[in-house]
Amino acid sequence: MIDFKKYNIEMWDNQKIESFRKNLLAWYDREKRDLPWRHTKNPYHIWISEVMLQQTQVATVIPYYKRFLEWFPTISDLAVANEEKLLKAWEGLGYYSRVRNMQTAAQQIMTDFDGCFPDTYEDIAKLKGIGPYTAGAIASIAFDLVEPAVDGNVMRVIARLFEVNYDIGNPKNRKIFQAITETLIDPKRPGDFNQALMDLGADIESAKNPRPEESPVRFFSAAYLHGTMKKYPIKEPKKKPKPIQIQAFVITNNKGEYLLEKNESNRLLAGFWSFPLLETQIVAQQLSLFEIENKESSTLSQKTLFEKDYHLQPNWLEQKFPLITHTFSHRRWLMEIITGTVTNDKLADNKTLVWVPQKDLKNYPLATPQKKLMASYFKTSHL
Ligand code: ADE
Repeated sequence: MIDFKKYNIEMWDNQKIESFRKNLLAWYDREKRDLPWRHTKNPYHIWISEVMLQQTQVATVIPYYKRFLEWFPTISDLAVANEEKLLKAWEGLGYYSRVRNMQTAAQQIMTDFDGCFPDTYEDIAKLKGIGPYTAGAIASIAFDLVEPAVDGNVMRVIARLFEVNYDIGNPKNRKIFQAITETLIDPKRPGDFNQALMDLGADIESAKNPRPEESPVRFFSAAYLHGTMKKYPIKEPKKKPKPIQIQAFVITNNKGEYLLEKNESNRLLAGFWSFPLLETQIVAQQLSLFEIENKESSTLSQKTLFEKDYHLQPNWLEQKFPLITHTFSHRRWLMEIITGTVTNDKLADNKTLVWVPQKDLKNYPLATPQKKLMASYFKTSHL
């Protein structure tokens, strides 16, 4: 346990801690949201909900959660699921490495734990992709283990309760919030205690529009009592995502089929299908200066590289499309659509390419930027 004094934190006495637990849990019992994963103690189900909830809000998660369990009802179904179906189940949620890690973890459970979800914090934390937050959430909710589950929402609540002067965005400071929550957690109802803090952080104590007057624990909150709510939590602004210019090639053949490519890299959006994409910077690196300077416009050089790379000779069309943007955590794609048709549609064998009729496009795992591209393309081209 850390020394709270060193961090300028005034820890409460036992009586105050007891009283805090009582107030928080009474509020939770009255107001808790009725969520599908709150009707189960099945650790597999709770795990799925927790991983999904790290990416997006409750309302978005519910249909994904239900479908995931229909498609992969057991850990062994997840362990042997094929990649396309796995990505399809996660389509639109983002951070796809998480679902890949879940499959690896499911395989670990099958081989290392005889197919039974491990029931200690240490073993749960051994599973691929499961960090301290998720391990704490599963341990406390599914197994009633007295383990805190500290995510961004919980850190915000704690920062206001104790006026914690340490940045919640800095991973080094996590131990401070973890130690405070370990002290506060109710040993009789650890899962409910953690979820009560999560509910509080998601709504009444939200980042943007908190309603501190409604908090069931406002009289415990140093920031509330001292009028410093606006100052807490301390959080440095994030760096802006780096803008990247991308050309998306919408190429059709004589049958009106579309060219799709599978992303065979192990980087961003690995395993997904998309219209062929080229990054402007890469185009500049790969074509010689001569080739670029002897073209009339910048898109011509991209077209040249496409022809070289894909061994196709499109008849380029002049249709104009609006720029489409998509922001990931560290980068922002600015996508320009370029269209063309080919008569000779023989595909290069150095890439994974297919011709797909429009009605079948939806059967391929497509990440959100692709969906945006397709929506914009079909909307604009049918005007
Ligand atoms: N956010 C993350 N986990 C949650 C849970 N179990 N309930 C509500 N919100 C959450």
